Amino acid sequence: MTEIKASTGPKYARIYSVGSATPSRVIDNEFLLQYIDSSDEWITQRTGIKERRWVAEGENIETLAMEAAGKAIERAGIDRAEIGAVILSTISHYHQTPALAPKLAHQLGIPDAAAYDISAACAGFCYGLAQAESIVRAGQAKYVLVIAGEVISEITNLEDRGTAFLFGDGAGAVIVGPSETNGIGPVVWGSDGGQENVIWQTADWHTAVETGVFPKLGMDGRAVFKWATSFIARATKKCLDGAGLTPDQLDVFIPHQANDRITDTLLRYLKLPETVVVARTIRQLGNNSAATVPMAMDALLSSGEATSGQTALIIGFGAGLVYAGQVITLP
Ligand code: ACO
Repeated sequence: MTEIKASTGPKYARIYSVGSATPSRVIDNEFLLQYIDSSDEWITQRTGIKERRWVAEGENIETLAMEAAGKAIERAGIDRAEIGAVILSTISHYHQTPALAPKLAHQLGIPDAAAYDISAACAGFCYGLAQAESIVRAGQAKYVLVIAGEVISEITNLEDRGTAFLFGDGAGAVIVGPSETNGIGPVVWGSDGGQENVIWQTADWHTAVETGVFPKLGMDGRAVFKWATSFIARATKKCLDGAGLTPDQLDVFIPHQANDRITDTLLRYLKLPETVVVARTIRQLGNNSAATVPMAMDALLSSGEATSGQTALIIGFGAGLVYAGQVITLP
């Protein structure tokens, strides 16, 4: 048998930087009451959400992704020619092909990078990060740019009182590269396609063309809530176990921002000390699907609530159903 040379890479990887972008249009709960029978009080009490950001004229998934990625590259202080892979996680880019990542790489001045989109809904960033970590450690690329970008407002059914208030638009991005010490713990990830009907697209593209009705997002909120507070709670513990840590060794917790009450349940399950900084960006940004975790990470670092070098647990979960989480060192 002919021996084929294998690629080899650095022992460890870490996140070098994070950047994010939020669109300019602020949508408060009051605005949504023209479409759904609800109240500011109900939305705030049941979810924590006070407002979210939606794209305005001239803003879209590309502008948001470019802004977030540009910041991440700038902050990493690396030569962009050394970025060997660009991964975009999204469920709201309209083109099934070509993927948006190659175009973003081109526009960002990254030459000849492997570039592709992934679809893992609200777990998308953590899926992308897991791939980036493996790519770097396998020596397949020196640096990987992971972007997560969503314009969920365009696929939100404004008349559905179960989802209309939940989502916001935005993007987040990180640079992953080689490290002397480990900065990204083992990913805990999985899926349950048996629950494909818990969060869904209201029609496939073929049916949409036949009926002329643009597909939107549908969700059985109670089922997601139940899954998140039981199965996902156990997954958060597995992330810590996999990284060899106990809850008291954690500085920061960045769970997917689906509902403040889900976050509260996860906190109780993990018995996290009160000193742990917990992301609550849902209050101002809503649920940003794949972009949630990096947007929250950037917000905590920018506000000074979290600092570089701290240990954080991140986890995303959503349509599929899919989930992914890991322990990381904050950039
Ligand atoms: N305003 C006022 N009342 C409402 C509204 C509303 N917008 N929506 C529902 N209600 C009422 C219901 O009719 C019900 O009334 P009843 O008790 O008289 O029957 C009551 O409020 C409770 O309804 P529930 O559906 O049980 O509301 P719940 O407390 O579960 O909250 C919510 C709904 C916020 C959607 C919650 O289930 C949730 O956050 N689920 C998780 C969402 C999530 O995590 N999504 C993540 C993935 S998204 C992705 O992957 C793209």
